[in-house]
Amino acid sequence: MSRIELKTHDQVHYMRRAGLIVADIHRALREAAMPGITTRELDVVSADTIAAHGATSNFLGYMGYPATVCISVNDTIVHGIPDDRVLVAGDIVSFDCGAYIEADGRQWHGDAAFTMIIGGDDAAPLRRQQLNAITEESMWAALAGLASARRVSAVGEAVEEVVDDHVVSDGWEAGIIEDYTGHGIGTAMHQAPDVLNFRARGISPKLRTGMVLAVEPMLTAGDIETVTMEDGWTTKTVDHSDAAHWEHTIALLENGVSVLTAPDAGAAGLAPYGVTPVVLD
Ligand code: MF3
Ligand code: CO
Repeated sequence: MSRIELKTHDQVHYMRRAGLIVADIHRALREAAMPGITTRELDVVSADTIAAHGATSNFLGYMGYPATVCISVNDTIVHGIPDDRVLVAGDIVSFDCGAYIEADGRQWHGDAAFTMIIGGDDAAPLRRQQLNAITEESMWAALAGLASARRVSAVGEAVEEVVDDHVVSDGWEAGIIEDYTGHGIGTAMHQAPDVLNFRARGISPKLRTGMVLAVEPMLTAGDIETVTMEDGWTTKTVDHSDAAHWEHTIALLENGVSVLTAPDAGAAGLAPYGVTPVVLD
């Protein structure tokens, strides 16, 4: 595995600027996503928001990816390409996007994803609502865990624990996707280390001040087998079960953690775990 890029204080501030732009794309997408809109129209919302900030999409053109956002509907787990599909009430839809800014002659990237139910939570069956809630919770548990953990493997442990807890409270077991992982992020969108969402054998990198990670659990309401469509991107569950995906970019700092892609630096999401984030702005 290639070297992990450790960021200076100034560099984390550059990444916060990118993170706040990503947060604003999410805000715009959330407001615009409603029954009757096409996913292509939502890509325009994303592209316009990035342009309004004078930033650049890190998704558009990435290995040939044709849009500024991945929009993954129902049984699509990740990398759904915006097209003429019309969203309907009750769809469970993930939005994954990012942007970079330039500073000190380099790119500084942000990357985050959220999932929502079109037309409001009540428009979907209970299990779909639960899937989204479990996935979001697993992300916050993992982010909070990084405040005191020793190794990157804490992410997978936290995700598995949340999934296990919900077997008891909800009465069914979410599947944790293993074919896709989170990642380091900084002067490029995807860097070392891989951030696994499940417990795995083998040694995991030690957490260090200056590390910035994209934590992004993907859960399903069924099995974890994935299949990628002919377009080379759209990745679905083989059993056509629903999927959800949440992601934030988090910085490990000397005095704590800061969720760079959350407007409140993660304060609300981390609070249930007794973690108060560092606020950089
Ligand atoms: N979904 C990936 C991530 O969050 C990035 C998407 S790659 C792209 O790490 F090509 F679709 F942009
Ligand atoms: Co990512």
